[in-house]
Amino acid sequence: MRGLVASCALAALLLAVALADHHHHHSSAQSNEEEDSCHRLSAPNADFAVVLYKSLNAKTAAGNNIFFSPLGISTALSLLSTGARGETHSQLFSSLGYSTLNQTQVNEAYKHLFHMLGESQENQKLDVGNAAAVRSGFSPLEQFLNDIKQYYSGEIFQVDFTKPEEAAAEINKHIASKTNDKIKDMVKDLDPEMAMVLINYVYFRGQWEKPFDGNRTRKEEFHVDGSTTVEVDMMRRTGRYNFYRDDGNHATILQLPYKGNTSMMIVFPDEDKMNQLRRWHDSFFRTNVNLGMPKFSISAEASLDDTLKESGITDAFGDKADFSGMSNEVPLKVSKVSHQAVLSVDETGTEAAAATTVEIMPMSLPQAITLNRPFLLFILEHSTKSILFMGKINNPTA
Ligand SMILES: *[C@@H]1O[C@H](CO)[C@@H](O)[C@H](O)[C@H]1NC(C)=O
Ligand SMILES: *[C@@H]1O[C@H](CO)[C@@H](O)[C@H](O)[C@H]1NC(C)=O
Ligand SMILES: *[C@@H]1O[C@H](CO)[C@@H](O)[C@H](O)[C@H]1NC(C)=O
Repeated sequence: MRGLVASCALAALLLAVALADHHHHHSSAQSNEEEDSCHRLSAPNADFAVVLYKSLNAKTAAGNNIFFSPLGISTALSLLSTGARGETHSQLFSSLGYSTLNQTQVNEAYKHLFHMLGESQENQKLDVGNAAAVRSGFSPLEQFLNDIKQYYSGEIFQVDFTKPEEAAAEINKHIASKTNDKIKDMVKDLDPEMAMVLINYVYFRGQWEKPFDGNRTRKEEFHVDGSTTVEVDMMRRTGRYNFYRDDGNHATILQLPYKGNTSMMIVFPDEDKMNQLRRWHDSFFRTNVNLGMPKFSISAEASLDDTLKESGITDAFGDKADFSGMSNEVPLKVSKVSHQAVLSVDETGTEAAAATTVEIMPMSLPQAITLNRPFLLFILEHSTKSILFMGKINNPTA
């Protein structure tokens, strides 16, 4: 019940973010078309993100972090749906919120989205990718392979599941190579009878538009809950930030831009108000903020099987599965859907510190915000209106 209320707030926040996005870039007619195409995905993907968050929140033990990539998961399931038919396909599309679209439109939209994300990688590392490890000796239909390569920057590779440890090592090596070695041990204990493993990986490393000064970082307390306190490296910076104080919801919302078209959105509920968030509508204003933010690295993983089944994707996992778009010889079903995401938050931006503009500070008293209690976090990519990541940081040291 509590999770439900918190999640409604998330949906509202995402709405506010989309509306508050004034960074409109002038672009040619062709890229407008590209933008329109991938923006078609942003509303259904945001809704699905909330469904995922609710489910993961309900399954996450107190004090553990929630961190996942809504974009990554929607992408992986869309890729899967290219090979699905009948009710299996309908369930996927219905859960993803794509019921008014057809597969071609969704494929095109993802192709454009990846193209646009690829364009904005100059100052950040953003890798979103998919792969399907398929049992040796099984040849998927040509059309399926082509769709995956053409639209999803996806790869299918053959793995000998009869040697589960070697198969796992091969899959893990593939993922490690795509994630700068940040995710090295994603799969283990593979079933030798496995028909296919669907993999999604996401790696993000952004540089703050306005870096923190490492000299100001100090050990401070972070209050995980009423009885647990941990020590964190608290980074400090005073500067102009998009800020919104929501008294009705007992929360403060803050936007920290990365270089490029990406920003981190922080929702910091007042003490003991994490579960009392409700809707809000207003937009940000810019103000002086004296910000304290933990420096942390987290990695969170989740098996999504139950979460997806709860969202209505059931046939894909069972004997009713129809993946006749992947093979018309071997009946297939999905064995497992895993997801892992990694985030590092630190002071950096040092290489580009020289290019940082000097800020003229009005003499008003800055708002003091120290993130020393659990907070919600989103990483948003503005040109595609994508939620790259979403999470609840309950304990930065966990
Ligand atoms: C998908 O929808 C578009 C636009 O309505 C249409 O032009 C196209 O033919 C449809 N494709 C398929 C495979 O149904
Ligand atoms: C931001 O996105 C626009 C497209 O909307 C793109 O043209 C621009 O290059 C991107 N900016 C950066 C810094 O990547
Ligand atoms: C941090 O302190 C060191 C040593 O005092 C100094 O050389 C350096 O310039 C400082 N860094 C910044 C960003 O002020």
